Amino acid sequence: MFSIVALGCAMMTPSSLDSTGLRALADKRHLNFGTCAFSDGVKADIDGGKYRQGILDNFNMIEPENDLKPPAMWQGLGKIDFTKSDYLIDWARSNKLKVRGHVLVYASDWGYTIPRWLLDKEKDITPEQAKQILHDYITAVVGRYKGKIAMWDVVNEAIEDGPNSRPFNLRDSFWYRKLGTDFLVYAFQFAHEADPKCKLYYNDYSVEIGGTKTENLFKMVDFLKSKNAPITGIGFQFHRWAVEVPKPGDKFYETLQQIADRKLTFMMTEMDLSIPIKRLTRTDPDYGLVPASPEDLEQQAKSYEAFMRLGLSFKNCEGIQLWGYTDGHSWIPGSTGGSRGAALLLDKDYKPKLAYESVRKVLAGR
Ligand code: G3I
Repeated sequence: MFSIVALGCAMMTPSSLDSTGLRALADKRHLNFGTCAFSDGVKADIDGGKYRQGILDNFNMIEPENDLKPPAMWQGLGKIDFTKSDYLIDWARSNKLKVRGHVLVYASDWGYTIPRWLLDKEKDITPEQAKQILHDYITAVVGRYKGKIAMWDVVNEAIEDGPNSRPFNLRDSFWYRKLGTDFLVYAFQFAHEADPKCKLYYNDYSVEIGGTKTENLFKMVDFLKSKNAPITGIGFQFHRWAVEVPKPGDKFYETLQQIADRKLTFMMTEMDLSIPIKRLTRTDPDYGLVPASPEDLEQQAKSYEAFMRLGLSFKNCEGIQLWGYTDGHSWIPGSTGGSRGAALLLDKDYKPKLAYESVRKVLAGR
């Protein structure tokens, strides 16, 4: 590992920012640099065409935010609606964007993770049937996009935040109740059988700075490796707060070094660095978008610079992906009651923020 000294962020005003795209810089470094995106937004060419163009100018990879999740596609046994995922993936490939798949098994029962109809059938499904159901779904989805999706989040967020007595502190989920820890192994095996060349990831949040959840992650990864599960990488989501500024040798660097020690790759899969937001009513058009103080934008720029340097200082970093790129389309305000947001590189009007220039500087090797 080599470390890069983070340079101070130039105190620039948005009007003086150079807004030529980040994609060319990422391509020059042969870096997978992506963002999540949503099919409806691309298809409708929203925001006067800025949404599509912003992706094409700044990224060489995209990941469907929700369109490839089981609840979005899986309508019933043997019934999968690929309409939205097909559109987005075809658009991406026609624009020479690499595609990352998210997610085959969102290993939780809560929220937008597993189809409700499957949970409703739980009592009638035997473990053998559950294994076949898992096999058939993964085979259909991964098989459809064989050679079109470069890497998959095979299992997402299987480890619970609070303590429990299950192996690796796994969440209580349909798949665990039916198959125990074997569901983890089966998911990777089925995905590999359906597309042997695809890179296969486990993806989670709040595992970036060590601690109990990270230790459970490593136990789970070691278990998967002991079962010869074809896992190739770990996705660290990096949903962080912009007050954080990683420095070589700190917990961020130590955690990622442990991935290298395990001869695995990693990706920063969903990075967004949120800041405190001015409290507005949910119907206000600027809800979740107005920084509580302008200084937070300067701090955010320093944070983005440091996180970019963190990722790029490891040779086993397979890519850096943001969870959106314009503040007008981010999950954060809605999930924080409007207390945090403005987490991305462009503002809601697609104007580059100080954070954008920081990322440009790092990608340009400065
Ligand atoms: O599509 C349905 C629609 O039919 C329904 O009418 C509507 C109201 O219930 O819900 C719609 O689904 C929403 C879905 O996004 C698609 O828009 C869900 O309610 C909503 O919870 C879901 O939020 C997504 C969330 O994951 C839950 O899956 C966010 O947009 C997305 O940014 C967020 O992304 C996750 C990653 O997948 C995993 N890592 C954490 C990250 C942030 O939570």
